[in-house]
Amino acid sequence: MQEKSPVMGAAAANIFHLRVIFFSLVLLSLATSAAGVAPDTLSNGSNITDGNTLVSADGSFTLGFFSPGLPSRRYLGIWFSESTDAVWVANRDSPLNDTTGVLVINGTGGLLLVDGSGQAAWSSNTTGPSSSAAAQLLESGNLVVRDQSTGAVLWQSFDHPSNTLIAGMRLGKNPQTGAEWSLTSWRAPDDPATGDCRRVMDTKGLPDCVSWRGTAKKYRTGPWNGLWFSGVPEMASYSSMFANQVVVKPDEIAYVFNATAGAPFSRLVLSEVGVLQRLVWDPSSKVWNTFVQAPRDVCDDYAKCGAFGLCNVNTASTLFCSCMAGFSPVSPSQWSMRETSGGCRRNAPLECGNGSTTDGFMAVRGVKLPDTDNATVDMGATLEECRARCFANCSCVAYAAADIRGGAGGSGCVMWTADIVDVRYVDKGQDLYLRLAKSELVSSKRKTVIKILLPVTACLLLLMMNIFLAWLCKCIGKRRKKIIQKKGLLGYVDASNKLGDENLDLPFVSFGDIAAATNNFSDDNMLGQGGFGKVYKGMLDDDKQVAIKRLSKGSGQGVEEFRNEVVLIAKLQHRNLVRLLGCCIHGDEKLLIYEYLPNKSLDAFIFDPASKYVLDWPTRFKIIKGVARGLLYLHQDSRLTIIHRDLKSSNILLDVDMSPKISDFGMARIFGGNQQEANTNRVVGTYGYMSPEYAMDGAFSVKSDTYSFGVILLEIVSGLKISLPQLTDFPNLLAYVSTMECSISIQFKLILLILHGLDYTFTLVQAWSLWKDDKAMDLVDESIVENGSPTEVLLCIHIGLLCVQDNPSNRPLMSSVVFMLENETTALSAPIQPLYFAHRTSEAKQTGENTSSSINDMSLTVLEGR
Ligand SMILES: *[C@@H]1O[C@H](CO)[C@@H](O)[C@H](O)[C@H]1NC(C)=O
Ligand SMILES: *[C@@H]1O[C@H](CO)[C@@H](O)[C@H](O)[C@H]1NC(C)=O
Ligand SMILES: *[C@@H]1O[C@H](CO)[C@@H](O)[C@H](O)[C@H]1NC(C)=O
Ligand SMILES: *[C@@H]1O[C@H](CO)[C@@H](O)[C@H](O)[C@H]1NC(C)=O
Ligand SMILES: *[C@@H]1O[C@H](CO)[C@@H](O)[C@H](O)[C@H]1NC(C)=O
Ligand SMILES: *[C@@H]1O[C@H](CO)[C@@H](O)[C@H](O)[C@H]1NC(C)=O
Ligand SMILES: *[C@@H]1O[C@H](CO)[C@@H](O)[C@H](O)[C@H]1NC(C)=O
Ligand SMILES: *[C@@H]1O[C@H](CO)[C@@H](O)[C@H](O)[C@H]1NC(C)=O
Ligand SMILES: *[C@@H]1O[C@H](CO)[C@@H](O)[C@H](O)[C@H]1NC(C)=O
Repeated sequence: MQEKSPVMGAAAANIFHLRVIFFSLVLLSLATSAAGVAPDTLSNGSNITDGNTLVSADGSFTLGFFSPGLPSRRYLGIWFSESTDAVWVANRDSPLNDTTGVLVINGTGGLLLVDGSGQAAWSSNTTGPSSSAAAQLLESGNLVVRDQSTGAVLWQSFDHPSNTLIAGMRLGKNPQTGAEWSLTSWRAPDDPATGDCRRVMDTKGLPDCVSWRGTAKKYRTGPWNGLWFSGVPEMASYSSMFANQVVVKPDEIAYVFNATAGAPFSRLVLSEVGVLQRLVWDPSSKVWNTFVQAPRDVCDDYAKCGAFGLCNVNTASTLFCSCMAGFSPVSPSQWSMRETSGGCRRNAPLECGNGSTTDGFMAVRGVKLPDTDNATVDMGATLEECRARCFANCSCVAYAAADIRGGAGGSGCVMWTADIVDVRYVDKGQDLYLRLAKSELVSSKRKTVIKILLPVTACLLLLMMNIFLAWLCKCIGKRRKKIIQKKGLLGYVDASNKLGDENLDLPFVSFGDIAAATNNFSDDNMLGQGGFGKVYKGMLDDDKQVAIKRLSKGSGQGVEEFRNEVVLIAKLQHRNLVRLLGCCIHGDEKLLIYEYLPNKSLDAFIFDPASKYVLDWPTRFKIIKGVARGLLYLHQDSRLTIIHRDLKSSNILLDVDMSPKISDFGMARIFGGNQQEANTNRVVGTYGYMSPEYAMDGAFSVKSDTYSFGVILLEIVSGLKISLPQLTDFPNLLAYVSTMECSISIQFKLILLILHGLDYTFTLVQAWSLWKDDKAMDLVDESIVENGSPTEVLLCIHIGLLCVQDNPSNRPLMSSVVFMLENETTALSAPIQPLYFAHRTSEAKQTGENTSSSINDMSLTVLEGR
């Protein structure tokens, strides 16, 4: 029991380790249930030696000795019996070096951990008057020392959290004694020593949970507003599982959560790098699932946009920061370089009740409230009183309701007098009322006018609305002036004309602007090169980073058709698809403008020995599901059925939070989806990801994409390139073979023969054989062995093999794939061995198609030898 799977630390290369972990987990849980006889109480005079445990009455928690890393470092701790993950560690900074440790309770009720020589390695420091104290491990996981005669609590482990908060524990402060309940990270996953990161309840201003790394504030939840922390409204959605509460009493300001009856066991853990995760125990598969984590995205970085900045993740631009209305960047040049922490300053100084020109307030709606450290709080005031107070005090720059309960905009008053920092948009966010000089308030006045007119007459309102809309359109038009091409665009200035009420705003950009944005298509700006052309990074409209794809010439498609296709494709919008923002036609140049994603593509992570660790299993599983959903949308849920035809891991881009976005979709359409041409003129698709029927006969369907998806899935799980090196590694070969006057089928065979003579990586046949022999875990990438859930991993391998079956009609539709991924318990059919390529290659040998026999032999040895 106390040998706490040291295997876990040693990241090793394959299946065997996962199996060992799995079995040790099984053994551990067996051991736990067998150990039901262990007592839950340590009474005066008795002790616990290394090897013995205390187990709570219901068996859920165990106290004992364990070694999370080196076996020579023994710690006393409490862990959740089923998973052996420590929730509390006593001697985290003074491990014992052998198994001679003993936990004793002394005559005055002190808990002492003594080593073999009788030295105390840790002490609870309690000195009660009692001579009859006992320590009990409660069912909540709390170790409590009580005076037996009075029942008074002398000490409890819940008052001394380590890196974990479980139901019933407090995170907060006692303002009277200054005592604090806070989380401190471990130094490393296998080292419980006090680490760098802390999570505390900030009780200055409104209660706010803050993560620190060293002396730097990293993330705050936003102030408690009576129902949730202002920046985490999603708390409300799971409050039925974990009842969240902030207790405010004279001797306690603290966050506590309770597990409601039937809710799974959960814990909040502060990781070594300062990420707080709520993990939830799944008793059936015996894994911890990440329920939520914080920070969630770039806008959660503390004060990312500086003073009076406003962060927004839901923007097409990668500049997430903007200034609040009435403010401008302090340093526009730094701001344009994405260095936004310098913040913003007022356009016009406040007047503060000076004569007829007075300041006013402007509502910034739906935000996480700013840091309230230096703010003034009055819970008794109403929002109206708050406004009046802020108005009367010249140093007040903003106010907001401190408690949103009770409707009418909430009650309570919080007023800021200094800089406002760390504000972001959130769903169900609060309203912040910002003080502005009169001259800056004009636009909001206009809205007020509309509001006053509203009840007067409906007709008038309609009229006003029309005017307003016209004005709005004009404004948007003006804003876009730079983007929208005015001449030389074949007359298509307004793409929405033809689409009527589709209100699609696909801007056409002039070639000149694009050339300027990409530094005249300089190589420095080039991001990559694909089958359809080169991709450049560019800066449009001064502040908007975009990716520009310059299609290779000679697609054979007319301008009108191209334009129609692009307009259709631009209407496809999905979380897992890269957004098409605009396009340009210039002579026979055709360019597409996409949103720019700063992270690289999937292949840059999974195949790179250094980067692959960034993608742990939960992230990879999320990526797999995201790609599946994006593809399902393309195939089925969008109004067009789009077959991607070139799905591969380098076409899957990752955004800041590692969500996948499929790129290059609709290319086949844009490029003139003429199948005949695709077969004879150019190779669409990438060898290795191409399904047999497409590679050989040029026949494609949604099932060809399913095939490519299967290959990608197996690559994500294995971290290996499947089947063939990507042809981009062999540009000359590709170029050479592509120029040959022969069918794509023969081209393909040639390439297959040549590449199989090289040192290649892995074949689908091998993957299938391993699966068949129950050795599928051998496929799993070493970097995910540690945190991978065997059930999920095996499910993915199974689905991957179903997707790469030779016969398209055997492959599942993407809708089934999504279903199978979401429902782990679905019964799946056994995949049929993928033989096509092997078979066809040997056929090629038998018919001796213009290839030298030595190459044939080599390829055959490789294909059949494994
Ligand atoms: C622990 O208890 C055992 C027997 O109950 C006793 O022999 C031993 O001396 C105790 N050890 C300590 C350190 O108190
Ligand atoms: C353990 O540490 C003690 C001193 O704390 C030392 O005397 C002893 O030799 C150490 N034992 C081992 C096995 O290192
Ligand atoms: C508790 O143990 C101490 C010695 O550790 C002893 O002096 C005291 O009498 C004991 N009290 C009871 C109630 O047994
Ligand atoms: C107990 O007190 C000692 C000395 O004051 C201190 O070093 C130690 O950290 C304290 N232990 C606990 C668990 O608070
Ligand atoms: C019990 O341990 C505490 C420290 O935890 C110490 O201050 C106290 O003197 C000890 N009492 C006895 C009787 O040893
Ligand atoms: C949590 O449970 C405790 C005791 O069971 C109870 O007093 C408290 O009100 C509960 N809190 C919430 C938020 O349900
Ligand atoms: C009030 O206005 C006068 C003139 O417009 C100006 O000189 C003075 O500084 C203003 N006072 C404040 C507090 O802004
Ligand atoms: C609050 O005031 C202190 C002292 O002036 C300052 O160091 C700190 O940055 C301020 N906090 C915020 C959030 O403005
Ligand atoms: C304005 O607010 C600040 C900060 O809350 C306070 O120190 C100051 O006394 C107030 N001034 C007036 C005139 O109320």
